[in-house]
Amino acid sequence: MSSQGDNWRFGVLSVFLLLGLLCGHTAEADGDGLTAQACNVSTSMALDLQKFSGIWWEIVRQPSGSMFCTQINITVLNTVEDNVLIDTTYSNTITYPWVNQTMNATLTAANATPAADGYNFTYWNPPAYTPYTVFKVLDTDYANYAFVCGYTNAVDNSTAFAMIIARNRTLSTTFLDNLESESSSLYDNFLNGSMTLITQDGTCEGNGADTSTAFTVFYAIFALVIYILTK
Ligand SMILES: *[C@@H]1O[C@H](CO)[C@@H](O)[C@H](O)[C@H]1NC(C)=O
Ligand SMILES: *[C@@H]1O[C@H](CO)[C@@H](O)[C@H](O)[C@H]1NC(C)=O
Ligand SMILES: *[C@@H]1O[C@H](CO)[C@@H](O)[C@H](O)[C@H]1NC(C)=O
Ligand SMILES: *[C@@H]1O[C@H](CO)[C@@H](O)[C@H](O)[C@H]1NC(C)=O
Ligand SMILES: *[C@@H]1O[C@H](CO)[C@@H](O)[C@H](O)[C@H]1NC(C)=O
Ligand SMILES: *[C@@H]1O[C@H](CO)[C@@H](O)[C@H](O)[C@H]1NC(C)=O
Ligand SMILES: *[C@@H]1O[C@H](CO)[C@@H](O)[C@H](O)[C@H]1NC(C)=O
Ligand SMILES: *[C@@H]1O[C@H](CO)[C@@H](O)[C@H](O)[C@H]1NC(C)=O
Repeated sequence: MSSQGDNWRFGVLSVFLLLGLLCGHTAEADGDGLTAQACNVSTSMALDLQKFSGIWWEIVRQPSGSMFCTQINITVLNTVEDNVLIDTTYSNTITYPWVNQTMNATLTAANATPAADGYNFTYWNPPAYTPYTVFKVLDTDYANYAFVCGYTNAVDNSTAFAMIIARNRTLSTTFLDNLESESSSLYDNFLNGSMTLITQDGTCEGNGADTSTAFTVFYAIFALVIYILTK
C-alpha cells in the first residue's frame, strides 16, 4: 500500500503521538476523583431493553480504539434466550473510511434487571470472533446518551475502557462536556473533557479528506501497527 519509507515516517510520528496519549492518560487518571467507581465493581443498570434498542453512535472512547464511524444497532426480540441482537457497523481502514464493516453479536439479557456482572459476549467480526468482553451500561436517558464501560479481564483494569454513545451522530461541545464531567465524577475510565473523539463526520461516507484530530490519531495508531508488522 505504501513504501517502507512512508511506514517508517508514520511509525516514528505515531510513537510520539502514542506517547503523548499515554502520558496524557496517566496525568488525567491521577486527577480523577477518589470516589469514581471502577468498571469491575459497577453494576449494569436495570435496562428497559425496548427503550434501549435502536441506533446508537459512538461519540468518545477511552482509551482510543481502532474503529471509527461506529454505529451500534440493537434489536430486541420477544424471546427469553438470545433476545438481543447487536450489529455494529464501523470503519477501521483510515485510508478508506467509507468502507463499512459489520460485526454482530447475540446475547441473552433480562429486561429491567440490574446486571452486576454486566453482559459478557463476543462479536462475530468476520473472519474471527472478538475476545469475550464484558459491557456495562452505567447510565442512560434512552433518548440522548448512554455511559458504557467494559473490560476483558475483571482483575486487570488496564483492559478496561469507557465510552459515551449517543442517539445523535455528533453532539454539541457543551452537551458532550457535560456528559464527560458527569461520567468522570462517578466512574473510572471516563475523563473530564479529554476523551478521544470518534470520527463521525462526512468522511465516514467517503466525502473526502478529513483533518480532525481524531482522524490523525487513528491514522497514527494504524500506521504504528503497519510499522510494527513490517519492521
Ligand atoms: C456506511 O455506514 C454509515 C453508518 O454507519 C452510513 O451512514 C453510510 O451511508 C454507509 N456508507 C456506505 C457507502 O454504505
Ligand atoms: C437495525 O437492525 C435491524 C434488524 O436487523 C434492521 O431491520 C434495521 O434495518 C437496522 N437498522 C439500520 C439503520 O441499519
Ligand atoms: C451474525 O449474523 C448472522 C446472520 O444473521 C447469524 O447467522 C449469526 O448467528 C450472527 N452471529 C452472532 C454471533 O450473533
Ligand atoms: C466472559 O465469558 C468467557 C466465556 O465464557 C469467559 O472465558 C471469560 O472469563 C468471561 N470474562 C469475564 C471478564 O468475566
Ligand atoms: C477490580 O479490579 C482490581 C484491580 O484493578 C482488583 O484488585 C479487584 O479484585 C477487582 N475486583 C473484582 C470484583 O473483580
Ligand atoms: C487500577 O487499579 C489499581 C489498584 O486498584 C489502582 O491503583 C489504579 O489507579 C487503577 N488504574 C486505573 C487506570 O484505574
Ligand atoms: C439531537 O439532534 C436533534 C435534531 O438535530 C436536536 O434537536 C437535539 O437537540 C440533539 N440532541 C442532542 C443531545 O444533541
Ligand atoms: C470538568 O471540567 C469542567 C471544565 O473545566 C469543570 O467546570 C467541571 O467542574 C469538571 N467536572 C468535574 C466532575 O471535575
